[in-house]
Amino acid sequence: MSSRFRLYLDQHGSFVMLRGKKILLGITGSIAAYKSAVLTRLFIKEGAEVKVIMTPCAKDFITPLTLSTLSKNPVHSEFYRAADGAWNNHVELGLWADIMVIAPASANTIAKMATGLCDNLLLAAYLSARCPVYVAPAMDVDMLKHPATKGNITKLKSFRNAIITPDTGELASGLYGEGRMAEPEAIVAFVSGELKKKAPLNGKTVLVTAGPTYEAIDPVRFIGNHSSGKMGFAIAQELARQGAEVVLISGPTLQTTGNTSIRLIHVTSAKEMLDECLRFFPSSDIAVMSAAVSDYTPLVTSRQKIKKKGDDLTIQLKPTIDILAELGRKKKVKQVLVGFALETNNELENAREKLKKKKLDFIVLNSLKDKGAGFKGDTNKITIIDKNNKTTKFELKDKKEVAQDIVKKIIDFI
Ligand code: CTP
Repeated sequence: MSSRFRLYLDQHGSFVMLRGKKILLGITGSIAAYKSAVLTRLFIKEGAEVKVIMTPCAKDFITPLTLSTLSKNPVHSEFYRAADGAWNNHVELGLWADIMVIAPASANTIAKMATGLCDNLLLAAYLSARCPVYVAPAMDVDMLKHPATKGNITKLKSFRNAIITPDTGELASGLYGEGRMAEPEAIVAFVSGELKKKAPLNGKTVLVTAGPTYEAIDPVRFIGNHSSGKMGFAIAQELARQGAEVVLISGPTLQTTGNTSIRLIHVTSAKEMLDECLRFFPSSDIAVMSAAVSDYTPLVTSRQKIKKKGDDLTIQLKPTIDILAELGRKKKVKQVLVGFALETNNELENAREKLKKKKLDFIVLNSLKDKGAGFKGDTNKITIIDKNNKTTKFELKDKKEVAQDIVKKIIDFI
């Protein structure tokens, strides 16, 4: 990833918004069309699915082969395919898209869009699209300044199309001024930023805990558990994808986020996790405690490695503070608190008791009796119980899909 792209993403904090989005990329006849190859690549890298439509003139500037290779999809250009006469359904393309991006948008295409002309596939798809449309103009300085173009752009804005302001600089004509298509990185950041604004959890801060805790016995040994952190990290990613700013406090794990909307804080022990949770909870709207926190910690941690003596060894343990219960006590009316319950028997009964005792809004139950549920694996099987005792059972799913179910429940709840 280029440092410029990283900078944009850091500023916009919107790394995951394009994941899974269907993007219809319209390319028109402009020298800036060469940048559309990079733009396609960035969209794909962001996890989006891209279909490209080119105007006939765009093909003079960049080949369909480049774009079909980068987008991993056939490029559309004509109303029908010459080879077999099959119709390129512009209505289907328009309705398929979650977002339409026209980059570069030439003065000619902008004028046609403003007046509803429809003499190529790109314009037909534009008129058929019901999704948000983003337009990145590219033209010479005087063309952009012309009242006709200005009027057309104003008209597009009145259609609620978003205009991605062109850059100022040296132009293909040799003139200097405004008209260069925004850089692909800026377009990705712009679109991501707009999506983030519309996302259901935009403006919300969520505290998430994940992974195990390690309680030191001596400098080389600890009491821990098998938690991999996968569930908590998947929840954090999904929350960020829905627009939230996430503070993820994690015990030792191999998981990574690579997501600028997630602030990852590493801790080791239950006490460290408690301290970080107490630091961030007051400014959080929602907290999801999925960590497998150790319930006990050694009464004394030996400063030196405990030597083998041959006799039995007894380590005295003391209880740790229940972080979730502590947050339940501090919780303000508007804050949403979600806990987990990992059970092996009397699952529903135990989970309901935890929900009540820890003052939760809902609890996510997983039972180790269910095959494929719980620690380590990539799947989980959950039941969500809310404070009104509404109980929803879910099938065994990939942890990423389980995270979607949990986050959807949070969104419905708030
Ligand atoms: N939890 C916590 N702090 C602890 C122990 C647990 O925040 N010291 C949280 C976990 O993150 C989880 C919930 O409490 O969200 C339930 O954890 P679980 O281990 O299922 O239950 P416990 O309350 O520890 O009770 P038990 O081990 O007796 O089942």
